[in-house]
Amino acid sequence: MSTVIDGKAFAAGLRERVAQAVKIIGSQNGIKPGLAVVLAGEDPASQVYVRNKGKQTAEVGMNSFEHKLPMDTSERELLALVARLNNDAAVNGILVQLPLPTHIDESKVINSIRVDKDVDGFHVENVGKLFIGEDSLVPCTPAGCLMLLKDHIGDLTGKNAVIVGRSNIVGKPVSVLLLREHCTVTIAHSRTRDLPAVCRQADIVVAAVGVPELVKGDWIKSGAVVIDVGISRVKGKDGKSKLVGDVDYAAAMEVADGVTPVPGGVGPMTIACLLRNAVIATCRQHGIEIPSVIT
Ligand code: GUN
Repeated sequence: MSTVIDGKAFAAGLRERVAQAVKIIGSQNGIKPGLAVVLAGEDPASQVYVRNKGKQTAEVGMNSFEHKLPMDTSERELLALVARLNNDAAVNGILVQLPLPTHIDESKVINSIRVDKDVDGFHVENVGKLFIGEDSLVPCTPAGCLMLLKDHIGDLTGKNAVIVGRSNIVGKPVSVLLLREHCTVTIAHSRTRDLPAVCRQADIVVAAVGVPELVKGDWIKSGAVVIDVGISRVKGKDGKSKLVGDVDYAAAMEVADGVTPVPGGVGPMTIACLLRNAVIATCRQHGIEIPSVIT
């Protein structure tokens, strides 16, 4: 029997624990964490994400600062805003929503964020720290994938993990996190030879390529655990649009031990982990202990 890995429920529990942590540092240290989100332009998907982030930030008791800039904002103006937020003591975490308008150099902006306020974990210094196993801010979606895996499986030592996709935001950081958990890690991608055969070796499959339903049921080993990071809008057989992941969910559920659904799997974990990162960043900036409810 296959289990639905309920990321929506897990994320709700994590947000509850983040809210407790916020209360603890408020009452013990008189500090209220603040998270700033910057959106440049009018990308509809980004607007939805930013609205949800602001709402959930306030719901866990943190200060939410939203900065909406027009599409034609210059790189210099955006860098100036980040510099201001870097120096603002009320702001403990800064997230610049991606993608940025094409005339702005994304990596220049990301790397201008103060390392200890980089709640996305995208700054090269945080990426490097993650790679060598030093304390860092860990990218949110990969952190969410790992939490779901550990919650479902327990000890991951010795598991064969196949990650499909090599992006900087998901594939690469997930591989490092799983390596830290003593998995044997394979990163597969669009040029991998015989991808189905590679996936069939996996005890854990993490699909993060953005190709709707690429991973078929017969690519999954019996009893494997499948984490689906993809989210694409496609037209269903009835002509209506629907959201699907990178995995053929119904077919995977026939063979796997557990599968994350889309929606309601990894997606809700991303913002919950962002809120957790904002609390961790706040504690480190003030030299106070991270409440154990979120460690
Ligand atoms: N755009 C889509 N996902 C993300 C994310 O996790 N962080 C940022 N900054 N932008 C995004």
